[in-house]
Amino acid sequence: MRAERGLPMKVEWTDDLLIGIGIIDDQHKKLVERVKGFTKAVESRDMAKIEETINYLIGYTIQHFGAEELIMIRNGYDEFKSHREEHSSFINIIYDANKSLQKKELTQEKLEALQELFLQWIVNHIKIKDKRIGEQII
Ligand SMILES: [Fe+2]
Repeated sequence: MRAERGLPMKVEWTDDLLIGIGIIDDQHKKLVERVKGFTKAVESRDMAKIEETINYLIGYTIQHFGAEELIMIRNGYDEFKSHREEHSSFINIIYDANKSLQKKELTQEKLEALQELFLQWIVNHIKIKDKRIGEQII
């Protein structure tokens, strides 16, 4: 029997995730959708979908973080550096995940921890860090 663990975190897009910058909000919706897809793929142990989502996230997070960073730099946003560090830490998580995937070291246990981490990271980051950009810049 599987060890008792908390219910997996479920995330639905709600408007409290909006930060008020249209282009970024659209990208966030796509990111949340993909991360939800990753959760489903892990639950159903669909390795092809897991690989596809990790590959997508590598490209899309770099592109999306770049778009946010451009807005922050152009507006002289005061918390740019610490915000960028958070982005870097997420890219490192994705890098490590992909490395483990390539080495076929992603066990079901590791995948479950990873999907939890993705969801929590994205939602917390949008709600706290990204929301502040919207509040300061608009
Ligand atoms: Fe961000």
